[in-house]
Amino acid sequence: MKKGDKYSRLALRQGYRSRAAIKLMQINDEFNFVKGDVIDLGSAPGGCLQALRNLTNGKVVGVDERPVKQVPGTEFYHQKFETLNLLQKFDTIFSDVGPLTKLNEVDMDKALELEKDVVKFMKKYLKTNGNFVMKFFVCEGVKGLLDELSVYFKKVVLFKPEASRKGNKEMYAVCLNKTMME
Ligand SMILES: C[S@@+](CC[C@H](N)C(=O)[O-])C[C@H]1O[C@@H](n2cnc3c(N)ncnc32)[C@H](O)[C@@H]1O
Repeated sequence: MKKGDKYSRLALRQGYRSRAAIKLMQINDEFNFVKGDVIDLGSAPGGCLQALRNLTNGKVVGVDERPVKQVPGTEFYHQKFETLNLLQKFDTIFSDVGPLTKLNEVDMDKALELEKDVVKFMKKYLKTNGNFVMKFFVCEGVKGLLDELSVYFKKVVLFKPEASRKGNKEMYAVCLNKTMME
């Protein structure tokens, strides 16, 4: 976690492992999207898993290709989310998945590929009426993907929480009440 930043300090003070937890809670304050059984894609180091554990009484499952120190009351899969083979569907899917390198043009392409795979995952594992929140990076190619989301949900809002650094291109697509099954 980067030090010296207001939201990173706030996260630390509140016992969270990353400022990502603050972003998630700010999105939830605005849209109240967390409900039932939840899966968190791209969990390391685990801040969002901690926040989710506090926000639902349902099951909380995380997945990341990097390891995560156990968050009490959650399950964790140490693998790429694309390789998961699960028996259950979820009421909420939160994705903070993103490339770990700096965001030059090439990485934007990589980010978009990941975002497409996250949407594929959502189609398979989100229950009807479920909620889906996905981090994405603003670039030319992402518009088609966001348009596609509006086909699957009653409401789609693009949102940048206060705790997301002003200078970066990340935003969150907040997609509420899935209407179609695949
Ligand atoms: C911004 S970090 C997530 C921060 C996290 N949400 C938290 O609460 O601190 C993005 C994460 O996405 C993960 N990631 C990237 N590609 C992935 C993939 N294909 N499968 C699983 N995790 C992936 C990275 O390992 C990284 O930990």
